[in-house]
Amino acid sequence: MHAGSREIKVKRVSSRKRSRDNLKSHLTPVRKRGGGGGGGCSINWRFSIMADIPAAEFCSDSEDLFGDYDSILEDSSFLAKLDDAEQTERQRDVRPSAADQPDFTSLRPPKDAVWKQSCEDFLTDSILDALGDEPLEELPPSQQQFQEQVENAKRSRLQDGDKTSTPLRDAGGKSAAGNVEDKSKRPARARRSVTEQLKRTMVSNAASPSSISRTVVLKEAVVSEEISVAMQAMETVSAETTDLGPFFGLPTKVKDLMYKLRGIKTLYDWQETCLNLDCVQQRKNLIYSLPTSGGKTLVAEILILRELLCRKKDCLFILPYISLVQEKVRGLASFGLELDFMVEEYAGSKGRFPPVKRRNKASLYIATIEKAHSLVNSLIESGRVDNLGLVVVDELHMLGDGSRGAVIEMTLAKVLYTSKSTQIIGMSATLGNIRDLQMFLRAENYTNDFRPVQLKEFVKLRDTIYEVDPKEEDCFRFSRLLNFKYSSGMQKLDPDHIIALVTEVIPAHSCLVFCPTKKNCENVAGMICKYLKEDFLRHREAEKAILLRELRDTGNGSVCPVLRRTVPYGLAYHHSGLTSEERKLVEEAYSSGVLCLLTCTSTLAAGINLPARRVILRSPYVATDFLKRSQYKQMVGRAGRAGIDTEGESILILQDKDRNMAQTLVCSPMENCYSNLLLHDGKGLLSLILSLIGLNITTSPDQLRDFLCGTLLYVQQRQLCVDKSLREAVQRSVDLLRDKDLITVTEDSHGQTLQVTALGKATYKGSVDLTYSGVLYRDLSKGLEGLLLNSCLHLVYLVTPYDMITQCKPDWMTYYRQFTLLSAAEQKMSAAVGVPESFIARKAAGQTVKKSVNLEVVGRLYLALVLFTLLKETDLWSVADKFQLSRGFIQSLLSSSSAFCSCVLHFTEELEEFWPFRALLKELTRRLSYCVKAELVPLMEVAGVMEVRAKQLYNAGYKTLTHLANADPAILSETIENLFRKQADQIVASAKMLVNEKAAALQEEVDELLTAPSDLPTAPQPN
Ligand SMILES: Nc1ncnc2c1ncn2[C@@H]1O[C@H](COP(=O)(O)OP(=O)(O)OP(=O)(O)O)[C@@H](O)[C@H]1O
Ligand SMILES: [Mg+2]
Repeated sequence: MHAGSREIKVKRVSSRKRSRDNLKSHLTPVRKRGGGGGGGCSINWRFSIMADIPAAEFCSDSEDLFGDYDSILEDSSFLAKLDDAEQTERQRDVRPSAADQPDFTSLRPPKDAVWKQSCEDFLTDSILDALGDEPLEELPPSQQQFQEQVENAKRSRLQDGDKTSTPLRDAGGKSAAGNVEDKSKRPARARRSVTEQLKRTMVSNAASPSSISRTVVLKEAVVSEEISVAMQAMETVSAETTDLGPFFGLPTKVKDLMYKLRGIKTLYDWQETCLNLDCVQQRKNLIYSLPTSGGKTLVAEILILRELLCRKKDCLFILPYISLVQEKVRGLASFGLELDFMVEEYAGSKGRFPPVKRRNKASLYIATIEKAHSLVNSLIESGRVDNLGLVVVDELHMLGDGSRGAVIEMTLAKVLYTSKSTQIIGMSATLGNIRDLQMFLRAENYTNDFRPVQLKEFVKLRDTIYEVDPKEEDCFRFSRLLNFKYSSGMQKLDPDHIIALVTEVIPAHSCLVFCPTKKNCENVAGMICKYLKEDFLRHREAEKAILLRELRDTGNGSVCPVLRRTVPYGLAYHHSGLTSEERKLVEEAYSSGVLCLLTCTSTLAAGINLPARRVILRSPYVATDFLKRSQYKQMVGRAGRAGIDTEGESILILQDKDRNMAQTLVCSPMENCYSNLLLHDGKGLLSLILSLIGLNITTSPDQLRDFLCGTLLYVQQRQLCVDKSLREAVQRSVDLLRDKDLITVTEDSHGQTLQVTALGKATYKGSVDLTYSGVLYRDLSKGLEGLLLNSCLHLVYLVTPYDMITQCKPDWMTYYRQFTLLSAAEQKMSAAVGVPESFIARKAAGQTVKKSVNLEVVGRLYLALVLFTLLKETDLWSVADKFQLSRGFIQSLLSSSSAFCSCVLHFTEELEEFWPFRALLKELTRRLSYCVKAELVPLMEVAGVMEVRAKQLYNAGYKTLTHLANADPAILSETIENLFRKQADQIVASAKMLVNEKAAALQEEVDELLTAPSDLPTAPQPN
């Protein structure tokens, strides 16, 4: 299955069922071996990497699964128009005579399918009649004109906000309903006549005695018609004939939205094939693996929508970074609004545990790895995990990525164990040992090597370019000789000919240069600029000036001197030393072609969709480590922009000494990914066991062993170097947890019963690292004895993350200077936690200090001082200057602290003695999450709205969330400098979603308050 795309056609057909017995036989034995008590897993723990068994591949046949499907009424925006028209009529209180109206009383009973059918029939007729008023000029099929018309209605509706939850927009003093009317008057008689008819319908409805809005009923009826088709299709799956709904089991409206919101008209062949796999139809777990930019996300999104709309189940989408979560929330909010489901952000300090129960809507939780784990825990604890229909893990290879990988493994193992009905889907571009992961997830596999744009890989050695070709003996095939005319000065400055390589493509095309260190990124960008011609300055000059201005705004007047020099040439660097706002501005400018080249570190390769015509790897190292195969693949995978380039190319610059290693790098198979539960002395395993006991998933060692047989660790037991049997490993963990006072073990004739202590519960509920739970408890207890409350330094100190201490060495002079600026009370508090002034003074004077002082406490207080100063001044740049730290580091310290603060809050909620902290930490979490002026906080709650944008919005009069939710995206993008229409659409949609979410949460509370408990005691029955 290869390149090329196919027009999406829609029809319902059945697809054949394929046998999966082959795979089953691979999946079952391990479970069998480990079944029951699990004590028989004696393990020969020697490190050996098994030869990879090629993954089973399922390719569907080429049968066309979609044909014509006539759909005139899928678009529920038409019904929005009905809403609007009805509202207009209601407002005018017009009650025409019965003789003027058609009889709509037959529309009333809204209960069953007959009703839906009758209403659809009626509407179809009436609308077609109306359209017949005027000849159709350009648009051939009648429904296209209809669609155009309802698009107009929809646009006006979007602009006017959701009238059920928000008041009329006052800008211009025009009512929302009035707007619709104005628009409908505009172009054609056809539209007028439709409107007239609709009005009459509404008037009739309004006049009828029923209290239910007809249009609400109509809306539900028409939209649910297609959903019910899809649901029927899903039910028939069990009967083994896969009858699909109009668009992969979804309403056609989804297809329209994909086009409208994403510009995606056709699915790639592989996407169709994958969506039509039997195992997908039957909701089996699935791992699919394709090269970078293969379009994996779209498949996951269609499956998510199917789960939300057809099965009405909640979904969890796990992404590795906060920025990616925010991007997804922004991108899917419009789908949520149009298709009536919730999109909820779980990243940083955002997200409720357990999530609010929605009575009428399914929720899509978009979460980072850590938040997803807490969310799953809270769903299990509240007995709601069965409501989770689907879990999607993007970048599944991150299972092998240190302690974060361990968290993914725990999350998935828990879902597998506690909910038989939850489907799990994982996707990745770089998976070596899919087989292991398949066994772990009991999943099927789909693999394809499709790439929308062909990628050519090259390496450069001295002045020769070789093409990477695994068929060649040494993997490299001669391609061309470089013939650059370098002066001797230039040769000295740029011995690797980077300038020559980049100027072959820029400014007409884009280029990414991956560098081994952050400093190197800045140097390379600066160096290239030195030799670029003046012409580069004129390329998109005005937009580059705007970018610089925006960069200056984010820095409250300061711009990074390197960027100030490089941006006019269309170049920038991109690494974690930049603030997230700067990174976002640089990314947007690069995406739109204002910048043509980025020098960057490997972090840019992960996740963000910033493709380039040419990708240059300045050296095969990340810092001092030789590149891993997966890192290399991620980086070169950025080459080639779908729809723009015909091909992409990567060039890896090599020195002679690296030649052999580079051959292995470019030609070896993908690296394998291994379980990380045993990392750092089995810390992951310990915390998994603690939470299993805490959540009552397992309450005995036998059950624990049974659970562990369903982990990736168990699948890979022979490949991983462990010197204990499963029984011993469990026993050792139980003993350790008991020693740490996190669990209790009681023994009776049936064996051991395991229970979590209050401290243990606080630890897993707060997602506190086991290494720190004891010290956190002590620090908080000590804090209670003399909490300083006329300053927030003490509280900030208590929530400064322990694991960031090693990332920053105090500069003693700065430390001392800042210390002396503290109030007497603050200094006293510092001494009380273990940092006396005398110690810092001596350090600053360069003296050796004999007195024993806990350096971790000293380091932690230093970080707390950074945060404290930031909270006071809210100016990242000046704080970075004061402490001589990169602004990117300070920002990540801030976001880690806000996340840790919410963890500490959950920790204190479980321990009665810490009650005074709860209110304080709630407020502190909020302050750390939005370290900006208070008035900007509501605007920054919207996913992806950062400080500068919030300021712009605020100054333009959008002062609250409701202002944003009711904003007209067109006006917004006109008013706010450099805000593209698409971004404005996304901001408004996200704001609307957030308002809906808040309103729904309040409504749930109201309903709960007003509903009589089912176990309300009744009067005793007389005997
Ligand atoms: N059928 C399609 N037609 C046109 N564009 C598409 C289609 N499917 C996906 N795309 C676009 O291709 C780009 C890359 O898709 P996506 O981000 O899903 O890739 P990916 O496989 O997840 O890659 P990576 O491994 O790098 O994350 C996106 O901009 C997406 O909108
Ligand atoms: Mg992806």
